[in-house]
Parts: sequence; structure tokens; C-alpha cells
Amino acid sequence: MRRKLAAGNWKMNGTAASLSEVEALIAAHPSPGVEILLCPPATLVGRLAALKGQHSLMVGGQDCHAKASGAHTGDVAAAQLADAGATHVIVGHSERRADHGESDEAVADKARAAWSAGLVAVICLGETLAEREAGRTLEVVGRQLDASVPEGATGLNTVVAYEPVWAIGTGLTPTSEQIAEVHDFLRSRLSARLGADAAHVRLLYGGSVKASNAAEIFAIPEVDGALVGGASLRAADFSPIVKALE
Ligand code: G3H
Repeated sequence: MRRKLAAGNWKMNGTAASLSEVEALIAAHPSPGVEILLCPPATLVGRLAALKGQHSLMVGGQDCHAKASGAHTGDVAAAQLADAGATHVIVGHSERRADHGESDEAVADKARAAWSAGLVAVICLGETLAEREAGRTLEVVGRQLDASVPEGATGLNTVVAYEPVWAIGTGLTPTSEQIAEVHDFLRSRLSARLGADAAHVRLLYGGSVKASNAAEIFAIPEVDGALVGGASLRAADFSPIVKALE
């Protein structure tokens, strides 16, 4: 019912030389059995889109401004990403929430801006270690889901990525039971808000996904794919994750 999605977030990594990794990824997956999305830095969105040509690989941005245009030095508008060839944009990544003080409401505004430009919003949420240790995980992700995912979300315009902050870039991953608990919770919370549309919204897991743990994570029923950081930078690391999802 929901197509699997292997998404890579290059974060602030990559230059033109990194495009050879995309060529290698395409060569390894000429006709992928799952959707593949790469979100390079904004400087590479256009070049990656041109490079991939007719290949089904999709290109996304890592953030967008909530406004359509204007005096916002250094920011990028969703329509500019779309113009460069993006079909998706990540919003509300925990690094943006932490580094730039983005609130749930700001994330929701960005998601709406993404939709207005015809982009799919990949909306991120997840608890910190302190929140998990305090037994507040479901309360936190529930609040983030309610406030960051705007009304009007559907399987066509929205993907939700659960990324525990303490698992990002640390090599630590939750147990399968912990991931399943959160994904089941997010699915039912979405269903309560969106009704039947919720069944079509993909729920990705993100946080230290790598070739060695991908199969176990993808075996969890409500996990529809992954948002991968470090292991998406090189085709040799990302390709086995894509294969584990196929
Ligand atoms: O957006 C991706 C996540 O932050 C995960 O990053 O795979 O390097 O832990 P990571």
C-alpha cells in the first residue's frame, strides 16, 4: 500500500566531486524496487537533478523558508528548490530545530510552504535522550506530530521521519521494540487526526541506519523506509540499505 522510501540526507557535506557517488548509486540501481530520495546541500540540488536525468531517483532540499520569497538573506524558498528540480524538502530536522531554534509551528509553516510549491514535505521529529530517559518519548513526539504536521497532510504531500535525537550520528539505535512503539503510536495519532489519509503517510526511521542494521529496522511493520545521514554519502554504504528495503 505504501511504497518504501530510502532517503539520504547529506547535511552540510558534498561538493561537485560527490556527484560521482550519485552516478555509482544509479549504476547499482538502474531500476530500483523502492523510491530513492537524495537531499544534498542546496548548492547541489540542480546539478544532482540534471545528473539523474530520467532515472527515478528523486532530489530534495534539506530546509526551506516559510515565505515564498523576499528579504531573507541566505534562505531558500520551496519554489526555488522545485525550480532546481527538487520534488521533496526536509523540514524540522532536529539539527535545524536545535541550531536555528525552529519551533513546531515554524516547521508546520515550512511544510505548508513546501506544499504550496508542489513539494513533498519530509517532516522530522524525535525525542532527546533526556526526554526518553524521563519517560516522555510518546508525549514529545505526539506534541511534535500534532503541531508540526499541518492539517491537510496526505500520503501524497507528506512523509514523517521519526529520528530520535540521541541516535543521530552516534552509532546508537533504539531497539526494534522502541522503534515499533513510536511508529505504532505515530500511526494511530495520525489516524485520529487525518482519518483514512493517515494510512498512506509514510513513516521513516532515521538515526544511525547502516547496512548492518537496516534489515532489522525494515522488518518493523510500520517502518516504511529510512532517512539516512552519514551512510547516504557514499554509494557503497547507501546501496546496501536500498537493497535491504527492496
Ligand atoms: O537525516 C538524517 C538523520 O539525521 C540521521 O543521520 O544516519 O548520520 O545518524 P545519521
